[in-house]
Amino acid sequence: MVTSLTSHFPFRLSYLVSILNVTLYFFSLGDQTGHQTRTERVKSVDIHPTEPWILASLYNGKVFVYDYETQSQVKTFEVCELPVRAAKFIARKSWIVTGSDDLQIRVYNYNTHERVVGFESHQDYIRALAVHPTQPYVLSSSDDMSIKLWDWDKKWQNIQMFEGHQYFVMGLAINPKDTNTFASASLDKTIKVWNLGSSVANFTLEGHEKGVNYVEYYHGNDKPYLISGADDFTARVWDYQNNNCVQKLTGHTQNVISAGFHPSMPIIYTASEDGSIRLYNSNSYRVESVLNYGLGRVWATAVSGRDNILAFGADEGLIVLALGGDEPSVTMDSSGRVIWSKQNDIQSTNIKTANDAAITDGERLPLVVKDLGNSEIYPQMIQHSPNGRFVVVCGDGEYIIYTALAWRNKSFGSALEFAWAQNSTDYAVRDSSTSIKLFRSFKERPSTSTPALSNLGYSAEEIFGGSLLSIRSAGGTLNLHDWESGMLVRRIDVAAKFVYWSDNGELFSVVTEDSFFVLRYVNSAFLNATDIGVEGVEDAVEFIAEIQEKVASGCWIGSCFIYTNASNRLNYLVGDQTFTIAHFSSSMKLLGYVARDNRVYLADKDLSIVSYSLPLAIIEYQTAILRGEFEMASEMLPSIPLELRPKLARFLEAEGMKNLAMEVTTDVEQQFDLAISLSRLDLACQLAEQSKAEAKWRTVADLAFKLFRFDIAEKSLLNAKDYNSLLMLYSASGNIEGMNRLKKLASEAEMSRLEFVSSFLSRKPEDCLELLIKTEKLPEASLFARTYLPSKVSETVQMWKDSLTKSNKDKAAQSLADPSEYANLFGNFSTSLEAEKLSSSINSERIDSKNYSQHTKDLSRDLVQEIIDNSQSVGIEANSSANPEPTVPVVEEVVVETDLPVAIEEQTVESTDSPKSANKKKNKKK
Ligand SMILES: *[C@@H]1O[C@H](CO)[C@@H](O)[C@H](O)[C@H]1NC(C)=O
Ligand SMILES: *[C@@H]1O[C@H](CO)[C@@H](O)[C@H](O)[C@H]1NC(C)=O
Ligand SMILES: *[C@@H]1O[C@H](CO)[C@@H](O)[C@H](O)[C@H]1NC(C)=O
Ligand SMILES: *[C@@H]1O[C@H](CO)[C@@H](O)[C@H](O)[C@H]1NC(C)=O
Ligand SMILES: *[C@@H]1O[C@H](CO)[C@@H](O)[C@H](O)[C@H]1NC(C)=O
Ligand SMILES: *[C@@H]1O[C@H](CO)[C@@H](O)[C@H](O)[C@H]1NC(C)=O
Ligand SMILES: *[C@@H]1O[C@H](CO)[C@@H](O)[C@H](O)[C@H]1NC(C)=O
Repeated sequence: MVTSLTSHFPFRLSYLVSILNVTLYFFSLGDQTGHQTRTERVKSVDIHPTEPWILASLYNGKVFVYDYETQSQVKTFEVCELPVRAAKFIARKSWIVTGSDDLQIRVYNYNTHERVVGFESHQDYIRALAVHPTQPYVLSSSDDMSIKLWDWDKKWQNIQMFEGHQYFVMGLAINPKDTNTFASASLDKTIKVWNLGSSVANFTLEGHEKGVNYVEYYHGNDKPYLISGADDFTARVWDYQNNNCVQKLTGHTQNVISAGFHPSMPIIYTASEDGSIRLYNSNSYRVESVLNYGLGRVWATAVSGRDNILAFGADEGLIVLALGGDEPSVTMDSSGRVIWSKQNDIQSTNIKTANDAAITDGERLPLVVKDLGNSEIYPQMIQHSPNGRFVVVCGDGEYIIYTALAWRNKSFGSALEFAWAQNSTDYAVRDSSTSIKLFRSFKERPSTSTPALSNLGYSAEEIFGGSLLSIRSAGGTLNLHDWESGMLVRRIDVAAKFVYWSDNGELFSVVTEDSFFVLRYVNSAFLNATDIGVEGVEDAVEFIAEIQEKVASGCWIGSCFIYTNASNRLNYLVGDQTFTIAHFSSSMKLLGYVARDNRVYLADKDLSIVSYSLPLAIIEYQTAILRGEFEMASEMLPSIPLELRPKLARFLEAEGMKNLAMEVTTDVEQQFDLAISLSRLDLACQLAEQSKAEAKWRTVADLAFKLFRFDIAEKSLLNAKDYNSLLMLYSASGNIEGMNRLKKLASEAEMSRLEFVSSFLSRKPEDCLELLIKTEKLPEASLFARTYLPSKVSETVQMWKDSLTKSNKDKAAQSLADPSEYANLFGNFSTSLEAEKLSSSINSERIDSKNYSQHTKDLSRDLVQEIIDNSQSVGIEANSSANPEPTVPVVEEVVVETDLPVAIEEQTVESTDSPKSANKKKNKKK
């Protein structure tokens, strides 16, 4: 949405750069359903002092409260039908106060949504409201040219009038440093300053060439400043003690409607009807940035130091920006001395002072803070020299080097950035895109000694210190240079945001927007090189790893890179694996590591300092493993606490050393997983036995199958109670004992379908029938009997009939034929009775699967036919088969319950053909 960002940051303000990549909350005022619709103009905005709320009043008479953290509308007030040009929070009363074109001031309780009061206050539109920070006062200004003071403790009585402006009074501001005075802005081209006790102005500031829309005070104590915005397209900074204009800010192409000082950063912002917001450096008054969100004319602004929030109301919506600044300018030396800036004040603390008591990980350290002095420039960067003796402060296009202890200036100059070399008092400054200067012992080195740096051939955007001097080019490459000769060591194609070097100058990490690279500098390859090309020396830099994490801050401890990432984790990296030490609820800057305490220290944006002990034993072990020093690693193992072992084992596992991981871990789950992945079946079994978890047994069974260990597979499936898999196992292996066992288990578990199938597969039709009857599946039972147990048909049909009668289905019951009464309806019935006897004797005969081939013909035997043939040859008349009636009873209106699973039917067909099955086919009808 950012349509123009004209500034290319003549000097790099860290917080301004972060405007570009931080939280840019953006929302239009949606309708009730929350859709992004373009709405009526926003005429005023205010930010709640403690809640993440923005109050926006609209031209259409509505007032909204938005939560900028959840980005949702939390409250709505329908004030009137006319524009509400002013609205403010009165947080200490849980109120909002509004001024609208119906001349009314209204007050609402924002918790209950109740209207507290409403009264007519002026004779013309109300333009501005101001709430007194301590007294029960609200000031209002109007097109009727007056300003009125209201006391809510006196029933909103108008206790004072301020007159003197010649035209509409557009803006009001109470002086935060002297709350008895306030300023007003008027279309009569003037700003007036008033005392609360006097109805006439104390003085008037003149200079704007057209009407003034807005006035605001500077909040800091160092300057008696006011800022105003006017229809002459300018904003002006005023000194109200000397009554003069300090600076005229130009650049807008339309009326300037609002302007202000950022409460914690040296920024002035101005907003205009030209649709843009301009950001100026409040020290140099240089333009830092121009923002345009394409939402039409900007009408109102509000700023809050709490979250560095800047809110803008425009024709078509509301914009909330978080102005970076999350990272404190703070530095720590290797002994734990911490120095930071608060505005221009420099403070320090020594974490040693906090060391007396036992420190807990993540707990805020109680620190004694000392004022060190101040800095003549607003510090955007502050950093110790490698030996800890100096501190450089960089900002506003300049640097100053101070002594770390006494805070005396040692050297200074102009610089957009500053970079220390490792282990020396060498440093570099970049003061333009073509000029990089090297210094040694605070003296500039002649550019002839480093010719490669005097003629870069590209535009330098940023420099980083360390073992090599790194320069990021505008084209996005990182150019590593030797400090001594200035020669290019290697060019790498990485758009670096930061570079961190390990102490020995060998390993370094290059942080980019979305990931970071770990690289190794091979100094000897550079020194040996005879010919240095445009890309430097190929072998001088080796790639080790790229990690897809957004690094916020980091440092090296030996060959371990430790860092905080954008999701507030404290991680470390060994080899190409990362591990989390802690996570935070807000962002933390890693200050560094103090070997004495074996702790890393971190600061949040309020400069609370916390620390974490490092799992050094683990890191060393991991490092040894990665170097292939296994003996050394195993010697270290006993010193690693048991509770850290699982973590180590995960590392080993990821490195493919599963056997070692198995030895190291103490975690049963992990042991089990490892046993499985190492195919150590007995161990897996043993662990599953201990844990008694069914899921584990299932996993063991899978492994056992894979290893053809059917005995263990069976045992595991039994333990896992996985009966369906057992059915598969038993039927595939023709295991009749198993099948019987399964039948019993199924019965106990009331798994009737499984019980049916296992009975069926083990040739126990009686049991099948019994089960069908028991489960009241009488139609199925009858059909089953007709097919497999003709002798039982009468009995089951009778039951079926009885049950139909019981449920008043007499007609259906009567239409069922019992073969004992209507044998003629059931073809071959008597023959099938004989076949049944034959088949049961065959069923009881067990055939070894080895003898299958001798019995293949039996599968196609037709018992009924055989009996018919036999009896014919013996001369006995077979049961009349003259009657071609259907054999299955035809039933009218009988709903045969068909929830007998299809699978069973299929099984039935299959199993009839199974090798163990009867060697004669039974009477079966389709
Ligand atoms: C302006 O205010 C100052 C300080 O309160 C006071 O001494 C002075 O008399 C005032 N001048 C006018 C003209 O009100
Ligand atoms: C350095 O210190 C001297 C005296 O201590 C002071 O006069 C000078 O202004 C300082 N310069 C800077 C850049 O801080
Ligand atoms: C810097 O100094 C440390 C300790 O004195 C040493 O171990 C390291 O090798 C040095 N690094 C470089 C790049 O010279
Ligand atoms: C550099 O040269 C030395 C001596 O000739 C040799 O021992 C070393 O291996 C070389 N290093 C590289 C990285 O080529
Ligand atoms: C931060 O670290 C955690 C744990 O390693 C990881 O899951 C996460 O993706 C990282 N976040 C970012 C933004 O890199
Ligand atoms: C009786 O059984 C024989 C032999 O299986 C068959 O051919 C015939 O069709 C059957 N009769 C009836 C009425 O089902
Ligand atoms: C298998 O067949 C052989 C030879 O026909 C016979 O001796 C043996 O008893 C049979 N085995 C079984 C278990 O039926």
